[in-house]
Amino acid sequence: MLKGRSLVEPEDFSLAEMDSLFSLAEKIEKDEKYLRDSCRGKLLATLFFEPSTRTRLSFEAAMLRLGGNCLGFADPGSSSAAKGESLADTIRMASSYADAIVMRNPKEGSALLAARYSSVPVINAGDGGHHHPTQTLTDLLTIRRLLGSIENMTVGFCGDLKFGRTVHSLAKALARYEKIKMIFISPEELVLPEYIKNILEKQNVEFCEREKLEESMPEIDVLYMTRVQRERFFNENDYIRLKDTYVLNAEKMQAGKKDLIVLHPLPRVNEISVEVDTDKRAAYFAQARYGMFVRMALLSSVLGVV
Ligand code: CP
Repeated sequence: MLKGRSLVEPEDFSLAEMDSLFSLAEKIEKDEKYLRDSCRGKLLATLFFEPSTRTRLSFEAAMLRLGGNCLGFADPGSSSAAKGESLADTIRMASSYADAIVMRNPKEGSALLAARYSSVPVINAGDGGHHHPTQTLTDLLTIRRLLGSIENMTVGFCGDLKFGRTVHSLAKALARYEKIKMIFISPEELVLPEYIKNILEKQNVEFCEREKLEESMPEIDVLYMTRVQRERFFNENDYIRLKDTYVLNAEKMQAGKKDLIVLHPLPRVNEISVEVDTDKRAAYFAQARYGMFVRMALLSSVLGVV
């Protein structure tokens, strides 16, 4: 069904296709031998023009667990991009060597461009402040695994909602599910972009914007914390002023529901105090592991081995 398809933004896959991926990921999680070696002889190119820990390592772990191999770079300075080679030419080359490409790039729209120049599927691992669809798959799978379904809940997004590509992708994806209310909590300078709000309005999603986290805690079923992203600011002073606006700590967690789940795409800096890590409602490290299983499901699907 997904064989040969690229994933540039979450809407590239239907809800039924995403549902199949989640079911496949759950099957892989339960039985580590399932699909082992199914990608033997296949190559995945991982082209990371920006730093990453989870996305790159989990894609590489996914491909290796499926029996395939990986090539690529984690630092564009070690590629011919440093000599001025265009993204289009880099993609033409990588797609002539590999069976699929995973790319992270700081420019919005770069994943769409890559998909146009590639002869193999391109998976967007984050394009600037735009989208991060495999993080969205990770987030949705985590919600489904921990809460049993993806509907009828209040999701609070907190932190940098302006530059946070994981927030943009997840909000758009959740808008397609039933009875999801969204609360967007940010300082005025980091509010959700208008174009995402317009999409939510068109889809009649109930949402509101607030500045305080504390007042929202009792209402929230899924709290999605995000980091204020230093790398997206033009002015260091603005970053310093805003970076510690929200710090989730044990005291604030007391106001949360007992079956709340706290997600974070990670990396975190100060926005979740380490004392929260031992709270059973803290799900962000489990979430990062679910990311590997859903990426295994995704790779095996786009490579056509399932
Ligand atoms: N969540 C996420 O994209 O993490 P990395 O930047 O470490 O890949």
